[in-house]
Amino acid sequence: MLVSQETMQPLHFSYKTQTNKLHIASLGLALVLLISLVSHTNSCAEHEKTSLLQFLAGLSHDGGIAASWQDGTDCCKWEGITCSRDRMITNIVLAAKGLEGPISQSLGILTELQHLNLSHNSLSGGLPLELVSSSSMIILDVSFNQLNGTLNEMPSSTPARSLQVLNISSNLFAGQFPSTTWKAMENLTTLNVSNNSFTGQIPTHLCKSSPSISVLELYFNKFSGSIPPALGDCSKLRMLRAGHNNLSGPLPDELFNATTLEYLSFPNNGLHGAIDSTQITDLRNLVILDIGGNKFSGMIPDSIGRLKKLEELHLNNNNMSGELPSALSNCRNLIMIDLKINHFSGELTKVNFSNLPNLQTLDVYLNNFSGTIPESIYSCSNLIALRVSSNKLDGQLSPRIGDLKGLSFLALDTNSFRNITNAIHVLKSSGNLTTLLIGDNFKGEIMPDDDTIDGFENLQVLDIKNCQLSGQLPQWISRLTNLEMLLLNSNQLTGPILGLISFLPFLFFMDVSDNRFTGEIPQTLMEMPMLKPTENAIHLDPRIFELPLYNGPSLQHRVVSSFPTVLNLSHNYFTGVIPPQIGQLKMLVVLDFSFNKLSGHIPQSICNLTNLQVLDLSSNNLTGAIPAALNSLNFLSAFNISNNDLEGPIPSGGQFNTFQNSSFDGNPKLCGSMLTHKCDSAEGHQAVILPRKQSDYKVSFVIAFSAFFGVGVLYDQLVLSRYFGQFTYWFMKTRSY
Ligand SMILES: *[C@@H]1O[C@H](CO)[C@@H](O)[C@H](O)[C@H]1NC(C)=O
Ligand SMILES: *[C@@H]1O[C@H](CO)[C@@H](O)[C@H](O)[C@H]1NC(C)=O
Ligand SMILES: *[C@@H]1O[C@H](CO)[C@@H](O)[C@H](O)[C@H]1NC(C)=O
Ligand SMILES: *[C@@H]1O[C@H](CO)[C@@H](O)[C@H](O)[C@H]1NC(C)=O
Ligand SMILES: *[C@@H]1O[C@H](CO)[C@@H](O)[C@H](O)[C@H]1NC(C)=O
Ligand SMILES: *[C@@H]1O[C@H](CO)[C@@H](O)[C@H](O)[C@H]1NC(C)=O
Ligand SMILES: *[C@@H]1O[C@H](CO)[C@@H](O)[C@H](O)[C@H]1NC(C)=O
Ligand SMILES: *[C@@H]1O[C@H](CO)[C@@H](O)[C@H](O)[C@H]1NC(C)=O
Ligand SMILES: *[C@@H]1O[C@H](CO)[C@@H](O)[C@H](O)[C@H]1NC(C)=O
Ligand SMILES: *[C@@H]1O[C@H](CO)[C@@H](O)[C@H](O)[C@H]1NC(C)=O
Ligand SMILES: *[C@@H]1O[C@H](CO)[C@@H](O)[C@H](O)[C@H]1NC(C)=O
Repeated sequence: MLVSQETMQPLHFSYKTQTNKLHIASLGLALVLLISLVSHTNSCAEHEKTSLLQFLAGLSHDGGIAASWQDGTDCCKWEGITCSRDRMITNIVLAAKGLEGPISQSLGILTELQHLNLSHNSLSGGLPLELVSSSSMIILDVSFNQLNGTLNEMPSSTPARSLQVLNISSNLFAGQFPSTTWKAMENLTTLNVSNNSFTGQIPTHLCKSSPSISVLELYFNKFSGSIPPALGDCSKLRMLRAGHNNLSGPLPDELFNATTLEYLSFPNNGLHGAIDSTQITDLRNLVILDIGGNKFSGMIPDSIGRLKKLEELHLNNNNMSGELPSALSNCRNLIMIDLKINHFSGELTKVNFSNLPNLQTLDVYLNNFSGTIPESIYSCSNLIALRVSSNKLDGQLSPRIGDLKGLSFLALDTNSFRNITNAIHVLKSSGNLTTLLIGDNFKGEIMPDDDTIDGFENLQVLDIKNCQLSGQLPQWISRLTNLEMLLLNSNQLTGPILGLISFLPFLFFMDVSDNRFTGEIPQTLMEMPMLKPTENAIHLDPRIFELPLYNGPSLQHRVVSSFPTVLNLSHNYFTGVIPPQIGQLKMLVVLDFSFNKLSGHIPQSICNLTNLQVLDLSSNNLTGAIPAALNSLNFLSAFNISNNDLEGPIPSGGQFNTFQNSSFDGNPKLCGSMLTHKCDSAEGHQAVILPRKQSDYKVSFVIAFSAFFGVGVLYDQLVLSRYFGQFTYWFMKTRSY
């Protein structure tokens, strides 16, 4: 009524509002009284509230939950808390709240707590044993935190617990994995301890005590010993993943009694033995089999064809051999076949791929397959990635490859395929191709170059290296507007390199070394957009290769951006001078003009290339002095100007203190402290020397950097390997990826 009066008489607004407020206030008071009366009888228990407040107080960062966790209010209404009808706390769900600090033991007194989810926070410290051994707990999820310490054993006398789900994955737990604890876990269905540092054996009799286990996740730990045969007793086991541990021995016979298994995965361990042909058929529910990265040997048994539900088969990086069983085509649900890096042989045509309509990825890299690419593969209309690199395949590419409309990654390199003209023509219509690796084939043929070659509109990586192709740099390459990496090294191409290539907007890696190119280095090359600082989108390219590119059996690149920026014109017949505009290519990491016929001076502007790690100008006819400011290139780790006609002092300080004197060989007019020819004082004073302290600091930084990251940062290592590893230019030498 008051409200309606107010709307009818807006002129009395201020007076009416006051009355209004008064009424609401008294109403509110009554309401609060009412609520507190109710909650007095029906609020959460005081000691449970205290336990929560202790947990809160222990946190160093509460993510804002304190706003609702107010003493004096009903804790059943607090954020993340659920109570039973009798006001006892049953659920605490505080996932991804930004919590930091320890998990208080006080939560252990919550006698009806069934579900605790603290995942995706930054909690640290140990996991209170009270929570694991709680008699009420059903689901305990503390995954994705920074919890550490060991997981303590529960006494074997502990009575049966109700815990069903324990997820402590992605933490920093370490130490011996408990064994007796599981005796009390009669109801456990899911145990996820992956991505920690647990040591010791996989518990032997897990399924005797916990017969309901269906998910067992142990990967990324330090488990050792063999796979316990008793896992075969797990009659409910659907998922067993224990990759990336130190497990050894064979797959025990008994394991194949776990016929409910859908997902069996042991990659990257030290397992060995063969796949037993009769036993594998017991795993008729298998959807994913991943035993890559072990020492398995023997053949793929014919009986694999009975695994009708199989979608993924990973046998890569083992010691397996023999021919493919034709029965593989009975696994009609296959999506992924990964057989790379083994010793398989025989013809791929043994398998009728037309029966695998869902196949998306076939990878047989580095085996001993012979014959042709099976025609039946062109029926796999869902194929995205096909790699047959490093085998003994031959023949011409079938025009039917154009049927694979979704094909994005094709690697045929290092085989004996013939007729590159045909290959380019049949592939140009594969509009979704982004990565095409066909190098090390087509030996001695002619580089196709006719106006009808177009298409390839999405191509980003093109490798036609090591084919001894004659002809010229083809026009069609300069129309590949999405190209990022071009490898044409080790062919016999002649003529000039087209300036047009320089305008490819995304090109950041160009290797045309070891050909017979002539003429001057085009000025336009100094305009390559990706190598100029304004355009460096390269390291923003997030594309992940459909299959990681290999550089030998173990080094791999997963993303385009893990490659350095490269301009390699070495081992050709280029003449003239190094264009002074070279200084514009600021993003360049590897610059190699060695083994040409370049003359004139080393342009001063090279000193602007502050990202350079490799600079090789050796074996040319360069004259004049070495620009002293090169010593300010702090990342330069390989430098070679040997076999020119340079003169004067070698710069000192900076990275120059780390180069071998062989970098300067064959320049009789050079002088320097590390050379037999020392500079006299007239020559010497030209060299600019960095202040001692600064240069020492920089050198030691680079050395420390290489020492710490030498293993992890592959590309650093790779770039260096050419220069310290007997001319094995990491990219050129690779027989394939
Ligand atoms: C815990 O919460 C996270 C985030 O909401 C969720 O992804 C996860 O499935 C939950 N855990 C369980 C066991 O339900
Ligand atoms: C922890 O594991 C359980 C059971 O597999 C799962 O439901 C839950 O989603 C996992 N938690 C997270 C954060 O992924
Ligand atoms: C187990 O944990 C890992 C890592 O924390 C997670 O990626 C995986 O999905 C979990 N497994 C299940 C079945 O929840
Ligand atoms: C392992 O745990 C770390 C830290 O929680 C996480 O960043 C990473 O994604 C996890 N890895 C896997 C494979 O689950
Ligand atoms: C597999 O289980 C059957 C009974 O279900 C048993 O007879 C057989 O011995 C078991 N095999 C192995 C290798 O444990
Ligand atoms: C690889 O398998 C062959 C038999 O196929 C065997 O002779 C050889 O010892 C195995 N090599 C390794 C390293 O296991
Ligand atoms: C392969 O399978 C398809 C479809 O089942 C069939 O039509 C074709 O004849 C088979 N090819 C060979 C060579 O057996
Ligand atoms: C590769 O296959 C050929 C037959 O094509 C065979 O002669 C050779 O021994 C095989 N090599 C290896 C290493 O298996
Ligand atoms: C080609 O690639 C695009 C973008 O990645 C994708 O959306 C499309 O489905 C692909 N075409 C086919 C036929 O798979
Ligand atoms: C190579 O392929 C082209 C185009 O498909 C064809 O015209 C030519 O005859 C083939 N050459 C040989 C030697 O097979
Ligand atoms: C490099 O040092 C070695 C031994 O110290 C010497 O024999 C060689 O002549 C030096 N090279 C140059 C270019 O001075």
